[in-house]
Amino acid sequence: MSAFNEERVLSVRHWTDRLFSFTTTRDQAFRFKNGQFTMIGLKVDGKPLLRAYSVASPNYEEYLEFFSIKVPDGPLTSRLQHLQVGDTILVGRKPTGTLLLDYLLPGKRLYLLATGTGLAPFLSVIRDPETYERFEKVILVHGCRLVAELAYQDLITKELPEHEFLGELAAGKLMYYPTVTREPYHHQGRITTLIDNGKLFQDLHLPPLDREHDRVMICGSPQMLKDLKQMMEDRGFHEGNTHTPGDYVIERAFADQ
Ligand code: A2P
Repeated sequence: MSAFNEERVLSVRHWTDRLFSFTTTRDQAFRFKNGQFTMIGLKVDGKPLLRAYSVASPNYEEYLEFFSIKVPDGPLTSRLQHLQVGDTILVGRKPTGTLLLDYLLPGKRLYLLATGTGLAPFLSVIRDPETYERFEKVILVHGCRLVAELAYQDLITKELPEHEFLGELAAGKLMYYPTVTREPYHHQGRITTLIDNGKLFQDLHLPPLDREHDRVMICGSPQMLKDLKQMMEDRGFHEGNTHTPGDYVIERAFADQ
């Protein structure tokens, strides 16, 4: 049996000249946990060309959604960005990843820290009812260069709160903090800076990070992960993994080519 399912593209949305999203059909046998990633790609010259992508849609939906950058000379994304409705895409049958609720110890508040397309796995996590059963507050922080790159704002601030089932669960629990670094916006600065100087917590009226009550999921560029990992360790947080749950978990935002 092939390692991939062939799915059909159902919709494509271009956010900016650097970012786009698309949805596909979903094989009924394809199961994943919210927060996981899988390999996806295209057949190029008869051979599969694949990269890891977090699934942005929650695992109870009939479709799959992915959020991608576009790199003009990137082997995969230079092709992927031209996807049209009806095109075929390969989706790996074996999802995996560490951004899972199961890899975190119980806590009061869950911080989801993302830059760029690192938002993708958290779009799945914030639509998982279990997230709200396990935590009193769920704080989604998304850092981008430009305001236009703050994708999915409507989903986070309108659709989800109005969702007949999730809306009630997330009410009073889900907090959203978008921040921009390269143009004026009401929240400005890198996530690392906002944690260091305490502005994030002041703005949200929450106490500073505290290992006893806070759990953290982190997804972004390699340097962002490195910096935040160091900040977590400096604060005494232990990293969780597939064997041992911890205070925080990290994963690279994939597909930078
Ligand atoms: P900056 O504009 O200061 O580089 P990118 O599109 O390059 O992945 O960046 C997405 C966002 O992540 C930008 O706001 C960028 O800020 C920020 N960023 C880049 N590197 C880091 C880092 N090491 N720690 C925290 N945020 C970062």
